[in-house]
Amino acid sequence: MKLTQVDFQERRDRLAAQMGPNSIAIIATSPVAMRNRDADYKYRTDSSFFYLTGFAEPEAVAVIETFAEDDEDGYSYSLFCRERDREMEIWNGYRAGVDGAVDDYEADEAYAIDLLDEEIIEKLLSKEKLFYRIGQQPEFDARVAKWITTANGESRRGTAAPAQVIQLDRILDEMRLFKSEQEIALMQTASDISAQAHTRAMQTVKPGMMEYALEAELNYVFGQNGCVPSYNSIVGGGENACILHYVENNKELKDGDLVLIDAACEYEYYASDITRTFPVNGKFSPEQKALYNVILDAQLAAIDAVRVGNSYKEPHNVAVRILVQGLLDLGIMQGDIEEIIQKESFRQFYMHGTGHWLGMDVHDVGSYKQEGVWRTYEEGMVVTVEPGLYIAPDDETVDVKWRGIGIRIEDDIVATKNGPLNLTAKVVKSVEEIEALMAR
Ligand code: GLY
Ligand code: MN
Ligand code: MN
Repeated sequence: MKLTQVDFQERRDRLAAQMGPNSIAIIATSPVAMRNRDADYKYRTDSSFFYLTGFAEPEAVAVIETFAEDDEDGYSYSLFCRERDREMEIWNGYRAGVDGAVDDYEADEAYAIDLLDEEIIEKLLSKEKLFYRIGQQPEFDARVAKWITTANGESRRGTAAPAQVIQLDRILDEMRLFKSEQEIALMQTASDISAQAHTRAMQTVKPGMMEYALEAELNYVFGQNGCVPSYNSIVGGGENACILHYVENNKELKDGDLVLIDAACEYEYYASDITRTFPVNGKFSPEQKALYNVILDAQLAAIDAVRVGNSYKEPHNVAVRILVQGLLDLGIMQGDIEEIIQKESFRQFYMHGTGHWLGMDVHDVGSYKQEGVWRTYEEGMVVTVEPGLYIAPDDETVDVKWRGIGIRIEDDIVATKNGPLNLTAKVVKSVEEIEALMAR
């Protein structure tokens, strides 16, 4: 199931309603990113631009205009995009063109992107407010500033640029933070494919395999389902798991080590984000198992804390307490639990947060605090829950048997009126389930 123009239009309706009369919103998509010389990265449209338009081509700008309060037409939606061009399409692929923008993407007006500088001035004149995503793209910011100067140069006509410029991301980010049923369904599909990929990795891994070869097993599942990774995959064997953003993935996986995989795909522009840690040879050592179970207990309790009305920080606080108690019980830390929590000395072993918003972007938009206070979970918010412990290989404060073990467990959780909904439950995570799967 994909989103349709009805969904994108409903989002534009909601944005226009929040803009008030005599306003204009300008939303540009991402520029093409070059990999080297004339080879570009595969294009990925800007999430907020796609959220409003469903349009995935590069070089596109959406403009939403509201008019006088008594205007019955409501608002107007213009799409500036690449024109159809037989020669360019033979080389670089299909374009919707201005006709497609109107016929297939429901634009009220469509223009060639080359006409943007010219056409936008007329649209800016006489508007009171400009809604713009300030700071996303420095080069586009400079263009917008120039349009404002040009429009103000028209003051002798009795018109000028909008007097107010408002940070559009504040509105869009808040809209995107709350996922509809359809968005959750897309995230469930992304999660199911990612769960399948992790399951395949558990079934395929064996001592002597290279980390990149295991990454290839994940990519096989993503690719077979028409998906791409939603972020760079982390496949870290042994002590590489202690490097939080390890993406080299170029070492050999060794007998007796764990492997940490933080990898997931996006489906129809909606991300998933999964981490599993499991033994390369299929069997946890006593130390690996003991530490793993501390993290699993912390993760299960933290997931249970993703409840409507709870503070955003509640899962983190719940996880930290269980992790610290576990570190004390295992003799990895010494001291008083309250003091360790208060001074955050657990950061020696747990140095990242317990989660983040998840949506079209893996670290999704949406504020975490409102007026300086952590916000509370509301229905439709999606958050990751990803506690871990990382014992550095050279940490001489810890018994040698623990050193070089890095473990994280990560799932994607929706806050619902019926409690936490785990989108990524289809990949196993208890010691027993993992060992059973790997023994098959
Ligand atoms: N995969 C990125 C993260 O877990 O935040
Ligand atoms: Mn994450
Ligand atoms: Mn992750």
